[in-house]
Amino acid sequence: MSETARLSLQGKEVDLPLIIGSENEVGIDISSLRSETGAVTVDVGYKNTGSTTSSITYLDGEAGILRHRGYSIEDLAENATFMEVAYLLINGELPTQQEYEDWDYQIRHHTLVNEDMENIFKAWPTGSHPMGQLTAMISSLSSFYPESLNPNPNEEDQHRTIRRLIAKMPTIVAMLHKKNLGHPIIYPKNKLDYVSNFLNMTFKNVTEDYEIDPIFVEAMNKLLILHADHEQNCSASTVRIVGSAHSNLYACIAAGIAALWGPLHGGANQKVIEMLEAIREDGGDARKFIAKAKDKNDPFRLMGFGHRVYKNYDPRALIIKKSCDDILNKLGVKDPVLDIAKQLEETALADDYFVERKLFPNVDFYSGIIYRAMGFPVEMFTVLFALGRLPGWIAQWKEMRDQNQPIGRPRQIYTGHVKRDWTARALR
Ligand code: CMC
Repeated sequence: MSETARLSLQGKEVDLPLIIGSENEVGIDISSLRSETGAVTVDVGYKNTGSTTSSITYLDGEAGILRHRGYSIEDLAENATFMEVAYLLINGELPTQQEYEDWDYQIRHHTLVNEDMENIFKAWPTGSHPMGQLTAMISSLSSFYPESLNPNPNEEDQHRTIRRLIAKMPTIVAMLHKKNLGHPIIYPKNKLDYVSNFLNMTFKNVTEDYEIDPIFVEAMNKLLILHADHEQNCSASTVRIVGSAHSNLYACIAAGIAALWGPLHGGANQKVIEMLEAIREDGGDARKFIAKAKDKNDPFRLMGFGHRVYKNYDPRALIIKKSCDDILNKLGVKDPVLDIAKQLEETALADDYFVERKLFPNVDFYSGIIYRAMGFPVEMFTVLFALGRLPGWIAQWKEMRDQNQPIGRPRQIYTGHVKRDWTARALR
């Protein structure tokens, strides 16, 4: 195979080197394009642009393959703990026994957040969306740990910030839930593992005992793993680009959370349940909503369907769909929207519009049904996505900084007015 791609441009020929990935994906390295030809590429939405090389996550959207550091998502979801996957993503290898114990100890001993963080809630109107609150809370950690403002921290300081983020995120997420209910917060209990501690802080009520259900622990662990990373998606790219300006890690993660909030990205999990509820209230006719989704004059889209990269069943959705039946059965929950979701999926997958465009259910299609069965309010769904995605964002940020990548700053093709003389248009 040729090692270069030849570009013929306005009578000039340039050879551009190829970058071949470890799974034989082909990239054309255009880093010399502008200096050699004066031209830039235009790729709105980055549909054909590889923004980086990366050794964290491999995704083959045509084959429905997702692997982290070489391990399949199926293997990780079945066998690993979320803390192991977090370690794997950030450090590149699964931890040994000693490494796991150290990591787990460090995370367990950074779970408390400064009491002053509770004051922030006083400023927010009741009913504020928890994703906006989470963005602000994570960003405000930089005020409590000002050493994180050093743009070039030593390794130990960088690791401490990473541990703090991973350890405090569940405390903050549970706090958002409690505050939105108007209930007192529950402090972390460091003898509990990561997921159990989170569930205890979320569902325990100060007035009553709470027994952590192992079915909840298993379900939550799996859901967090399934959300842990997804290569150069909108929020990970945001984290990388903000980090490329050497902004502090808390600010970078807050930016990632803001990107995730959008309904085309992580915010879809909330929208899916709202859509399924709307279908139920409308009489449960899936075909009517499929027709709306196909109508180009109607902005309605089937939420939880379609993906930029997957042109096959999203492997995460496959695992969640299987778990969904299992968990609802174990919990003895009968949710009518699960039947609507299955009917909607079946109708869509038999429809030419969805077949031709290769639109399949994505990770968000069934996850909300599990979250709801566990007792999470719908506004918390995207917050739970963020809790799972945190190690992925950190790993992507760390890789970008370790490779000393330059500031992210795309070019453009200007299509506005050419130079014109000033003449007043308004009477003054
Ligand atoms: N319902 C109806 N039509 C759709 C949908 C959908 N959910 N998704 C894509 N299409 C159509 C779209 O109208 C277009 O048709 P045409 O070629 O006739 O113009 C074609 O499929 C390609 O869509 P696109 O918008 O060009 O694709 P994209 O790669 O820019 O967008 C997406 C990907 C995920 C934003 C989109 O599929 C979508 O809006 N899905 C619903 C929101 C959603 O579930 N998002 C969660 C994604 S998974 C979680 C995550 O990792 O973010």
